[in-house]
Amino acid sequence: DTDTLCCVTSTAPVNIAMIKYWGKKDTDLIIPLNGSLSATLDQGQLCAKTSVAISRSFKNDRLWLNGTEQSIDNPRIQSVLNEMRRRIRKRKFDESDLSESFTQGMSKWHLHIVSVNNFPTAAGLASSAAGYACLVHALSKLFNIEGEVSSIARVGSGSACRSMYGGWVEWLPGEDTGSSIAVQVAPEDHWPEIRVLILVVNDQKKPVGSTDGMQATVRTSDLMQYRAKKVVPKRINMIKKAIFDKDFETFAEVTMKESNQLHAVCMDTHPPIFYMNDTSKQIIRFVHDFNNEENTIRAAYTFDAGPNACIFLLEENVKKFISSFSRKFPPSSYENYIRGIPVNFEQPTP
Ligand code: PMV
Repeated sequence: DTDTLCCVTSTAPVNIAMIKYWGKKDTDLIIPLNGSLSATLDQGQLCAKTSVAISRSFKNDRLWLNGTEQSIDNPRIQSVLNEMRRRIRKRKFDESDLSESFTQGMSKWHLHIVSVNNFPTAAGLASSAAGYACLVHALSKLFNIEGEVSSIARVGSGSACRSMYGGWVEWLPGEDTGSSIAVQVAPEDHWPEIRVLILVVNDQKKPVGSTDGMQATVRTSDLMQYRAKKVVPKRINMIKKAIFDKDFETFAEVTMKESNQLHAVCMDTHPPIFYMNDTSKQIIRFVHDFNNEENTIRAAYTFDAGPNACIFLLEENVKKFISSFSRKFPPSSYENYIRGIPVNFEQPTP
């Protein structure tokens, strides 16, 4: 029937890395230089929503992002679709299987992808992670792909593999496409007192994308090699133990040091890359002052490839942090001030 249309819609949340991914050893397959570890946020807050539809009445494959049509020839999207086709081909042939038609040169069936983010795209708020996790989740449902799918999300955007699971998630660097996967290290309900606040300092597109930024770092920074070999493996073990033991102080210290080292390798890149601005640096100082006030570590900042801060803290300290923060930083100093995100740690849902 030419009018048959099959459609699946998924949503997927962003993840915030405590142990940072920065640098690839294989740029085509997106195999990272070091492992990383993150928390996947609540579905309702910062998330992508993607619908994928396949029909014979579609004339060609098309893609819309936040209401604007984009080229489907985007190499990352094509990597995901190619990996999807490879997985489908591995299955037994079944005449009635829609996905079989999808692999046959897409001569009869075409795919439409519609994706929206409920937060700024490409501003260092992990929009690509949520977007590719969501796309892969929806396509896997549409084509009945079972088993390990985080490696399909990985070829879209590295950090997206971690958004395929809820809770606390580690990306094992691996050596090839089958071993570079995400695994859940603790479930959604493991540490229910943890919260994260997203402080949106600037929601404009970042000046240097993470792909170009990390390639430049790998090419030119000596510190990067040391970090990947000597620092990150130890920190992954430390933070996993802190998460298992619900030891906030260690968790916070490792998280802040990691963020600072990410920005240190960016500065060690030649020419240097700056993602944080003056407000970001004032936030760092504020968090250390807040912790010093009572001589206990009650909050931890982390910054990705942009000036926006993510603050991890325990529920019992959220009110105090926000009231103290708003005294120091009047809302007018921000384009989008502050969004408090209660973390429920959920994985993508259809
Ligand atoms: O997945 P990408 O290419 O957007 O890389 C993101 C890297 C960081 O967000 C800076 C760190 C991380 O581990 O998420």
